[in-house]
Amino acid sequence: MDTFPVEFFDLLSPEIRRLVDDGALPQFTTPHWTPVAVMQDVMPTSRAADCVALLETSLLPQLKLMEKPIPADSISGMTENYSEKLAKTVRVRSAMLAPSKSKAAGIAHEIGLTQMLQSESLWQFAQAITGRKLLREVGCQAICYGRGDYSGPHNDHHPEEEHLRNGYVDVHIMFNTEGVYSQWLVYEQSGYLSEAVELNSASGVAFYLLPFWHYTTPLIAKIGREADARRWLLLSSFVLA
Ligand SMILES: [Fe+2]
Repeated sequence: MDTFPVEFFDLLSPEIRRLVDDGALPQFTTPHWTPVAVMQDVMPTSRAADCVALLETSLLPQLKLMEKPIPADSISGMTENYSEKLAKTVRVRSAMLAPSKSKAAGIAHEIGLTQMLQSESLWQFAQAITGRKLLREVGCQAICYGRGDYSGPHNDHHPEEEHLRNGYVDVHIMFNTEGVYSQWLVYEQSGYLSEAVELNSASGVAFYLLPFWHYTTPLIAKIGREADARRWLLLSSFVLA
């Protein structure tokens, strides 16, 4: 496989494709439910393997390390018991794909990745699952978690951006290499970070109506597979219409 299909739906198994006709999932329409859905194994395993191979050979060398550790003085600088505060800490590799003029963005376009992330079928799928009208414009990013990489608790609220402050929808298309043992998404429900879902499947797709609190646990590799354990996250971001 040299390129991704133009339409996202051409990757998916028929039973996943049919969900587009079933209306919004209840977590997106029920008050007080956290609006997130994770679907696992959304395409044949061999197709997922082809996608991972293409990402690993073409895009991996172009990703840049994005790291924000725990501040060095976060303990030594504390003067009051129980006063600790921790902003989002994170370590991943990533690249903006659109809008962007980077080399990574050029390669993503060459392999058809950006076109698929901006495809009509992905947009329609996002609207169907979340029950929200979404602008047709799509922001795209690639993120890759290696061994020990994670995103700490954060809520993805952007109150300073007028077009995002009332919420937006992120769709994550996910692929894991065979070296991954586990990585979890933890998210809030009723004021606690009490819900968790395993993200290690050959392929997956997740829908987030942000903002809400969430984090991903460190990626755990299978023993002996640390060097090639990676979870790919291809992100399409939609503004509410
Ligand atoms: Fe997030």
